[in-house]
Order: sequence, then structure tokens, then C-alpha cells
Amino acid sequence: MAVSASPLDIHPSLAMVSVAPPGREEQDAYAISAEFYDVLQAERDGARVRRLYRRDVGNARLGVLDVGAGTGRVTLMSLMESRVPVHAVEPARSMRSPLMTRLASLPADLRTRVTVHPHTLDEADLHEVADVAVCHNTIACLDPASRRALWPAIAEALVPGSALLIQLPPARLPHHETTHDLPTQRIGRHEYGGRMVASADANRIRTRFHYWVRGEGGLLREHHETFWM
Ligand SMILES: C[S@@+](CC[C@H](N)C(=O)[O-])C[C@H]1O[C@@H](n2cnc3c(N)ncnc32)[C@H](O)[C@@H]1O
Repeated sequence: MAVSASPLDIHPSLAMVSVAPPGREEQDAYAISAEFYDVLQAERDGARVRRLYRRDVGNARLGVLDVGAGTGRVTLMSLMESRVPVHAVEPARSMRSPLMTRLASLPADLRTRVTVHPHTLDEADLHEVADVAVCHNTIACLDPASRRALWPAIAEALVPGSALLIQLPPARLPHHETTHDLPTQRIGRHEYGGRMVASADANRIRTRFHYWVRGEGGLLREHHETFWM
């Protein structure tokens, strides 16, 4: 089964990912967006994740693999809807941190079923651990080399006859620049908002995210992050 990426989905900038010298953290493609990811997207995306994947996850007999777990939307749903081990693969520290906080707040019997792999899937070295895999809002963010490395790693992590559920990247480049507002959210005295501007840049889609926080007196801060699909 495959579903198309919504233009509101957040994708990382492959151009921003670099190989760090030994002992140093790689640059984190989600350093800005991680703070706003759940505030601005969780409600809409949580319902979508349940609608798209819940039935297959509920049928898992061996394990569920969440490829690019992010802050844990699919991971949490998989824990609730299945009785099998769940493998959350998430290389970016900024996204993995909220995932770990979420898992830490779970009862021990749920927590014991989930393993977090702090790597890309091809580095995680998983063999036949699952019969259901979900790539939600992950494939579009990968550069061609990473994507090529992903398929054999998925095949290795699954057993024959497994279900692989992939959210596909947009099918074509946008004809013109498009702007989407993310639904504004209030937390205490502050209002959080965001906007995504997508445009074609040669054979890639450039998605520029603009986030802001407003208080009673007006704008408190704003941030930008650019991603490429
Ligand atoms: C746009 S986020 C989506 C997160 C989550 N699936 C969601 O929809 O909320 C894509 C995630 O994939 C992760 N990722 C990137 N390359 C990966 C790889 N090769 N293997 C596993 N995860 C990867 C990123 O770190 C990022 O957190």
C-alpha cells in the first residue's frame, strides 16, 4: 500500500546532512523543526497514521518496524494496536529526544516491547525482526544514495510475506510556488504557527518552513528551516 506525501509534511534537508569527524555529532537536519513538529502537526497526523496503518499493525505477528520514527507517532500507535515488539529507527537526535521522552512516560509493560535504534536503517543491522514495516513521511526526505541503501535494509529486516507500508513522495514537481499555513496552536500565553513554501528547484522540491511564536505583545521569535525532496 502506498499513500502520497501531503505538501504539509516536513522533510529534512539532505543538503544539510554532513559526515562529521569521529567523536562529533553529525549536523541534525531537524534541529529547528523538531521543536515545532508535534505542536503544529500531531493532531492532524495522529488521526492519519491511525487511519492508514492501524489495521496492518494490529495484524502483526512478529514485529513492527517504524522506519524514520521521528517523534514517535507511528511507534506509539503500533505499541497500542499490536502485541508484538516494535522497532523504532530514528537517526536524528533532535527527533529521537521527544520520542524517548514519550516512551519514558509509558507503563513498563508497554516500554518493554519497544526498541529504539539510533541509526539509519541500513546502519541498524536488523535481521527478520518484523512482518509489518511503516515508512511514514520518510522516503521523500532521502537523497538517492540513502534511498537505495534503504530497500535492501528493509528487505533484511522483514520476513517473507511481510507488509510494507510506504508514504510516497509527491509524484511531480510543483508548477509554481505554493504556500500552506500550518494550523495555529496556543500553549499558555503563546501562539505557535508555521508556514511551508514549496517550489521546484531543478529536479528537486525545495520546502522552506517558517515557524513563529507570538505573545500578547506580538512576535517573540521566528525560525526558518529548508528541506529538499
Ligand atoms: C519527516 S520525518 C518523519 C518522522 C515520522 N515518521 C513522522 O511522520 O512523524 C523523517 C524521519 O526519517 C529519519 N530518517 C532519515 N533517514 C533515515 C534512514 N536512512 N533510516 C531511518 N530513518 C531515517 C529522519 O531522521 C526523520 O526523523
